[in-house]
This record gives sequence, structure tokens and C-alpha cells, in this order.
Amino acid sequence: MTKIVLRPYTPKDAEPIVAILNYYIVNSTALYDYTQRTLEQQQAIFEDKLSKGFPVIVATIDDRLVGFGYYSEFRFREAYKYTVEHSVYVMPNEHGKGIGHVIMQRLIDLARQQNLHTMIAVIDSENQSSVAFHEKFGFKTVAVIKETGYKFDRWLHSQFMQLLLE
Ligand SMILES: CC(C)(COP(=O)(O)OP(=O)(O)OC[C@H]1O[C@@H](n2cnc3c(N)ncnc32)[C@H](O)[C@@H]1OP(=O)(O)O)[C@@H](O)C(=O)NCCC(=O)NCCS
Repeated sequence: MTKIVLRPYTPKDAEPIVAILNYYIVNSTALYDYTQRTLEQQQAIFEDKLSKGFPVIVATIDDRLVGFGYYSEFRFREAYKYTVEHSVYVMPNEHGKGIGHVIMQRLIDLARQQNLHTMIAVIDSENQSSVAFHEKFGFKTVAVIKETGYKFDRWLHSQFMQLLLE
């Protein structure tokens, strides 16, 4: 049976991570970016999260990076400090093998350990795979904010899903 191993991100992981992100940027509404990321941009994004004490974790199979996840501040005002927004991405040809599950479960465990109160996923409403995935962990849809994104010549709606940790 395939063994999925989780470990903390290191800068050399940025290359396969950027390949995954750029695939979804070009081919899907999972990310609201238009422009593909560079290695340096992605390394800086993760350095910023790590410097604030937030986790970035990667999943590997036979030492090959197959997915990753992280969380960081939901919004910037101080009173939001017990709330985080997370993301999980799995390589397109590796879906449905339990990789997302182990990453998400670890993020939830880490958020509990860090004494956080709630996690928020902001999901494009066309991405019902991600909605179904989050429902498996007890996330509930708390809002759909209409026409907040515009990509591929159409308006996109942001579906907010929340898990209360206590
Ligand atoms: C969403 C995503 C992370 C799920 O990862 P995955 O490795 O395919 O998911 P898993 O195989 O671990 O599945 C975990 C659970 O979610 C469910 N699930 C996953 N994809 C699903 C789908 N398309 N439809 C219904 N349920 C789904 C699985 O059935 C499984 O349930 P179980 O625990 O009862 O068996 C992955 O599809 C992905 O990377 N999508 C593109 C990027 C993205 O949208 N990321 C989320 C941005 S918020």
C-alpha cells in the first residue's frame, strides 16, 4: 500500500509546489490568480508564513512531493488572531488517494495545538470537489459571497466554509 509521509516544507520543495499551483492557476478556478508564480515568489510567500509561526507542510510518496497545505492569518486586524485560512493542494493526477485527507487532518491537529479557534476555507463555488472534501472534516458553508472573482470571462462566487475547533 502507498505510504504518504508528511513533513515540514523546505525551500527546495518550492519547485514542485509551483508546478502544482501553476497547473491550477492555468486550468481551474481553484486559485483566483491569472499569472503563474515564479519559484522566488512562492518561496517568499512561504517564508512570510513560516516567520509568523504558521505551518507549511508537504506530503510525499517515495520522496516525491504529491501535495501540500498551509494556514495563515484570515485577516490582519488583531482580534482575528484565533482565526486562520488554510489551503490544501494535491497533484492533479494523485487525487482520490487520501493525500488531501492526511494533509487536512494534520493542519487541523496543528491548529488545535496552536490554540486556534476556527479555520476558514475560501473556495470557488464551482469547485464542488473541495466543498465535498471539506464537508468530510465537518466544515460548514457559512457564506457564499457572489461575484467576488472574475476569471475565464465569467463571475465567480466565493464559498466560505468554517470549522470551529472547540
Ligand atoms: C480538494 C483536494 C485537496 C482533495 O484532495 P484528495 O487527495 O483528492 O482527497 P482525498 O482522496 O484525501 O479525499 C478525502 C475525502 O474527501 C472526499 N473527496 C475528495 N474529492 C472529492 C470529490 N471530488 N467529490 C466528493 N468527495 C470527494 C473523498 O471521498 C474522501 O472522503 P472519505 O474520507 O470519506 O473517503 C484535491 O482534489 C485538490 O487538490 N483539488 C484541487 C485544488 C483545490 O481545489 N484545493 C482546495 C482549495 S480550497
